Amino acid sequence: MRILLTGGTGYIGSHTAVELIKQGHEVEIVDNLRNSKASVLDRIEQIAGKKPKFYQADLLDTEKINQIFAETQFDLVIHFAGLKAVGESVEIPLEYYKNNIGGTISLLEAMRANNCKRIIFSSSATVYGIQESPEYVETMQTGPGISNPYGRTKYMIEEILKDFAVANPDFEVTILRYFNPVGAHPSGLIGDDPNGRPNNLMPIIMHVASGKIPYLSIFGDDYNTPDGTCIRDYIHVVDLAKGHVAAIKTLKPGVSIYNLGSGKGVSVKEMVAAFEKASGKPLPQQIAGRRAGDLDEFYANPAKAKAELDWQTELTIDDIMVDTLNYLKRENQQ
Ligand SMILES: NC(=O)c1ccc[n+]([C@@H]2O[C@H](COP(=O)([O-])OP(=O)(O)OC[C@H]3O[C@@H](n4cnc5c(N)ncnc54)[C@H](O)[C@@H]3O)[C@@H](O)[C@H]2O)c1
Repeated sequence: MRILLTGGTGYIGSHTAVELIKQGHEVEIVDNLRNSKASVLDRIEQIAGKKPKFYQADLLDTEKINQIFAETQFDLVIHFAGLKAVGESVEIPLEYYKNNIGGTISLLEAMRANNCKRIIFSSSATVYGIQESPEYVETMQTGPGISNPYGRTKYMIEEILKDFAVANPDFEVTILRYFNPVGAHPSGLIGDDPNGRPNNLMPIIMHVASGKIPYLSIFGDDYNTPDGTCIRDYIHVVDLAKGHVAAIKTLKPGVSIYNLGSGKGVSVKEMVAAFEKASGKPLPQQIAGRRAGDLDEFYANPAKAKAELDWQTELTIDDIMVDTLNYLKRENQQ
């Protein structure tokens, strides 16, 4: 297939580009490089043996996006492009709504105008908001309880895609709800390289390990969990990338939704212990107060992806830590 990845030079997009190229797909990338670097294209080539064609463009530039689709007939779009920092989305909500929702509408318009009818969308477990059960299933209601503008953009885009699919019944839409993507490619050549202040656990651990911040603040150790720290479902980014390859095989008219997670919850303290085991060094840390909006525990029910996509996670928390450290070591040598 000829596949356009929006946001394909970013963290998840670059890993997915590698897996798609390895499976023989033709990969092209559009990105405005707001949160990634063009040098990632060479890294993808080093790993997968082929450099994706690259368009530096903003999805909000409808004319330019339309031109890209007019020049090349894509079989599928995988739509990663978006702003993703939860804290930043609280500070600049309009920019998040404009970029994420406006960018998606612009993309869908260009696809419709140029007869490109398949899209896979990067959604997030955040759309589940607050649920009674910590085990999230695709059939659960989404929307209520989402605590930030970023999460609401994901929810709203899902709703837009559902409406769009009703109005255009021959469109094939797959929504992938990611749990917590972490880790890096085992080559150490690509990984998470967030610009600015990180506010997810693994990027913060990485910043502490490379001395950019003095210690990890653990936000609360009095949650209703065995060790008192929050429990999440962490997924190795290479497993996640392979989930996209699997999802291509089952695209069909209408909207299909899959959780991509491991199905296992891991606490903050367990993550820190696994990192310390991999690095052989203690990670400076302090217990800080709870953060507003954090839930005790949630994880994926990944049964639907297993049954329909024949996909499940294969890599462990230890793989995540080893690959993260390998990536950090290479980056710090640059
Ligand atoms: N990383 C996570 O923890 C996580 C979890 C759930 C969902 N997601 C979603 O997965 C997708 C990819 O995430 P990521 O971690 O790879 O993020 P990333 O920031 O590394 O990649 C996103 C890419 O999109 C580009 N981009 C943003 N707005 C754009 C625009 N208007 N036009 C063109 N390019 C634009 C950025 O430059 C970046 O390269 C995002 O939609 C994100 O919301 C990520």
